Amino acid sequence: MSETLTIRRPDDWHTHLRDNDLLKGVAPFTARQFARAIVMPNLSPPMTDVAGVSAYRDRIIAALPEGSDFTPLMTLYLTDDTDPAEVERGFASGTFVAAKLYPAHATTGSAHGVTDIRNIYPVLEKMQAIGMPLLIHGEVTDNHVDIFDREAVFIERTLVQLVADMPALKIVFEHITTQEAADFVEGSGETIAATITPQHLHINRNAMLVGGIRPHAFCLPVAKREKHRQALRKLATSGCTRVFLGTDTAPHAKDLKESACGCAGIFNAPFALESYVTVFDDEGALDKFEAFASLNGPAFYGMPVNETTITLEKAPVTVPDKIDANGTIIVPFHAGETLRWRLA
Ligand code: DOR
Ligand code: ZN
Repeated sequence: MSETLTIRRPDDWHTHLRDNDLLKGVAPFTARQFARAIVMPNLSPPMTDVAGVSAYRDRIIAALPEGSDFTPLMTLYLTDDTDPAEVERGFASGTFVAAKLYPAHATTGSAHGVTDIRNIYPVLEKMQAIGMPLLIHGEVTDNHVDIFDREAVFIERTLVQLVADMPALKIVFEHITTQEAADFVEGSGETIAATITPQHLHINRNAMLVGGIRPHAFCLPVAKREKHRQALRKLATSGCTRVFLGTDTAPHAKDLKESACGCAGIFNAPFALESYVTVFDDEGALDKFEAFASLNGPAFYGMPVNETTITLEKAPVTVPDKIDANGTIIVPFHAGETLRWRLA
């Protein structure tokens, strides 16, 4: 008998499901692994109002395979012009559960993002008052700041002040990649949480740059030095209740990544749980995996945990070199590798 691990069904607290044909191609992978997922609003055009988010939610549900019991949890894209009343309306009606702050030009689909956080202080005050979480892509966009330092500088320049100004605002510091972010989250109070992706637990920046440039290891925030990866592994497996699973699965067509100016994003949805559980196994922390994957996220968002379970078994699974997602060829994370755990 191989070793197995049965846990409550996990959720993904940071997902890009895209739209139209690609949505139909990628949504089934997330729905197979997770009960719920926080869906990012960085479409083109971005999801900046209640009507748009509601229509997008309907398209996601229509794209799911027959019989799937997956629930998309929607988010609103914040701009300099977001109206606090629209935020309150969408949250009260349950159309979206959180709002996303992209600093303008930080990443894919962020051109309409926020140019100065002070521009959205009335929105953030409203969110603080109604208990609505703010999801942050935490990187500065100043050209003078080295891309490997952008997350750490964001903490110093923006996040510390924001937390001081809005002490009751629930914040998810998303896809953290640095020791500085890990330390910040660990040292924060109950209102500050973080998600961690599989790739930032598995790879450091060498994976992108040693032996040739490897576009499929490129995402934003970019993978950092080994000491940062080690800090993230330590935090993820520490049992800290404010740290939880968020894949940041971000599919792009193979040819758009293998390009002179390749897109940022790693498609990790097909083997996300297999990828994460391998890390917890390597760290001797399988007993901490259920909290990270299935308990801490719902607790932070004030949602019930899932009642059904999944079982992972310690048996090899080989990740394909590429995946045909409804006509779009995508190279998944761990392409061509064999992982030691699989979904039973
Ligand atoms: O690598 C990334 N890809 N990071 C992001 O923040 C956005 C995402 C995307 O939408 O492709
Ligand atoms: Zn993302």
